Amino acid sequence: MLNKKLTLSIILFIFSFINYSLSASSSDATPIRNIVIWHGLGDSCCFPFSMGKIKDIIQNQYPGVYVKSIEIGSSIDEDVYNSWFKNVNEQIDMACEMIKADTNLTNGFNAVGFSQGSLFLRAFVERCNDPPVHNLISIGGPQNGVFGAPRCATTNGTFCNVARNLLELGAYDEYVQNNLVPAEYWQDPLQYSKFLEKSIFLADINNMKDVKNQTYKDNLLSLNKFALTLFLNDTIVIPRESEHFGWYEEGQAKNIIPMEKTQLYQEDWIGIQQLDNEGKLIFLESPGNHLQFTEQWFIENIIPLLNE
Ligand SMILES: *[C@@H]1O[C@H](CO)[C@@H](O)[C@H](O)[C@H]1NC(C)=O
Ligand SMILES: *[C@@H]1O[C@H](CO)[C@@H](O)[C@H](O)[C@H]1NC(C)=O
Ligand SMILES: *[C@@H]1O[C@H](CO)[C@@H](O)[C@H](O)[C@H]1NC(C)=O
Ligand SMILES: *[C@@H]1O[C@H](CO)[C@@H](O)[C@H](O)[C@H]1NC(C)=O
Repeated sequence: MLNKKLTLSIILFIFSFINYSLSASSSDATPIRNIVIWHGLGDSCCFPFSMGKIKDIIQNQYPGVYVKSIEIGSSIDEDVYNSWFKNVNEQIDMACEMIKADTNLTNGFNAVGFSQGSLFLRAFVERCNDPPVHNLISIGGPQNGVFGAPRCATTNGTFCNVARNLLELGAYDEYVQNNLVPAEYWQDPLQYSKFLEKSIFLADINNMKDVKNQTYKDNLLSLNKFALTLFLNDTIVIPRESEHFGWYEEGQAKNIIPMEKTQLYQEDWIGIQQLDNEGKLIFLESPGNHLQFTEQWFIENIIPLLNE
């Protein structure tokens, strides 16, 4: 069951762009590759203040570039709903089909994920990668999962309260696993064997189970770069070190170990150690809470990675 003493958290969508108006384009070069972005929990492909804004910033820097913002469902409302309640494995299958069918992406693309959307794009690379991703960029992505439930005050109360009630049933309850997105990347360090047995998404894409999928590793190793952004004051993704592949020391939920000390890295389950040794793993940081980066931060840190 959910440990109620935990600070309740999750993946919110508060963009605190300091300069709301777009600055003038600072680069005339059109990048070779088109771009796919995937929003986070409670967000949608196309809200003007979130992914719409990101698309504008990118296209302002790289005029003419095609930016596909993943939409799961046939309307913005459905997309928001699905970000909470649609089985992630089905969402990945849908994205694989959608991306493969998009003729603007045929030559490969760069991918930018926001919060849980970063995990989903990594799953796209591991499971499909057709056409292939060149640079994969995670902005506040909970790479080793989360251990903290939604804080409902700041998001749509209706969905968030349903989500919390489901988590009360237990994140590893079969119904909850299949129907509540945050439960699918919920890693309970106090119930690790139950997590391994029941997790339908995170345990799989992180190759944590006994049988490893070599394709997942091979596909991640085919990336040109994998960039990981951590928010220094993140109180939504718990623990925030998950954004850099850190996690709790085994068997407890207090001490954090860095990526290099995790089994995932040491036994190189998905190729993270090899990418690191090859200099392809990029560690970025942003001040502020979850997804609270500025337009300037995005332009300085992310825009150059989209021109490779
Ligand atoms: C491909 O990209 C171009 C340029 O952004 C756009 O006009 C066109 O609608 C896109 N095609 C598809 C199938 O989305
Ligand atoms: C490994 O993943 C690939 C891609 O999703 C899949 O086709 C294959 O069946 C998986 N292999 C095993 C042993 O599960
Ligand atoms: C929250 O979601 C419900 C269910 O779709 C909707 O009826 C309601 O208007 C939403 N509330 C806000 C504040 O967006
Ligand atoms: C982080 O939070 C602390 C305590 O609330 C605050 O003093 C500090 O200014 C914040 N730092 C950043 C970089 O947001």
